[in-house]
Amino acid sequence: TQFWVIIPAAGVGKRMASAQPKQYLMLDGKTILDSTIEKFIEHPQIAGIAVGVSPEDEYWQHSEWAGNTKVVRFDGGDERSETVLNGLQVLMAIGVADEDSVLVHDAARPLVSVEALTRIMAHTGDQGALLAIPCKDTLKLAEQQRSTATVDRSVIWQAQTPQKFPLMALYQGIASALEEGIAITDESSAMELIGWQPDLIEGEPSNLKITVPQDLVIAQALLSLQQTVNS
Ligand code: CTP
Ligand code: MG
Repeated sequence: TQFWVIIPAAGVGKRMASAQPKQYLMLDGKTILDSTIEKFIEHPQIAGIAVGVSPEDEYWQHSEWAGNTKVVRFDGGDERSETVLNGLQVLMAIGVADEDSVLVHDAARPLVSVEALTRIMAHTGDQGALLAIPCKDTLKLAEQQRSTATVDRSVIWQAQTPQKFPLMALYQGIASALEEGIAITDESSAMELIGWQPDLIEGEPSNLKITVPQDLVIAQALLSLQQTVNS
């Protein structure tokens, strides 16, 4: 099976608070966004990649991917969900079939492994899927910063990306959440609202979303570790 990929990369990176959006920061000699695109380009089951960047960003002019026939750039929106919706429209416009599987993956997760990509691609259920990891912390319910109860950890998972859904179903799910004004932070939350129950596929702690400055240090350390193991 072949897959289409949408990479939302149009955020401003408020929490990173760097001079430029975090997806353009350098990690191991290339930008975070270039590293993320590379993970998918190298995978044999990828038919094409749509990258959503802010219309104000000049990134694409300098990008090594600009001339690549497998990669298409599109305008991102003000919210991540709008960026993804624009990407789905681009895939429709280039003739991707309604039932074809789309993987949505955060630009800010450059460390996703080939094995994890292969795991979610191999999934066969009809409710969609997402990478996730079981929660390992003790969780507290709180009121006014006082702990009122402990939440059963065994029912809590941390969502990652990629998340995988058929093109048209995902379009309908996100469009209906946006119409109702419900804020969604991932694809699965939109699909849950229309009654889907996506399968949780084993993710990995190293597939972190680079969000705050410390994450960059962790990502660099993980990369060095991987390079040592591989050499
Ligand atoms: N994203 C996007 N369009 C937006 C907002 C976010 O394509 N309007 C992308 C980001 O570029 C990122 C991914 O969605 O790759 C995950 O979002 P997040 O980590 O929240 O990134 P930012 O929104 O840029 O960061 P922050 O929330 O700290 O501002
Ligand atoms: Mg954000």
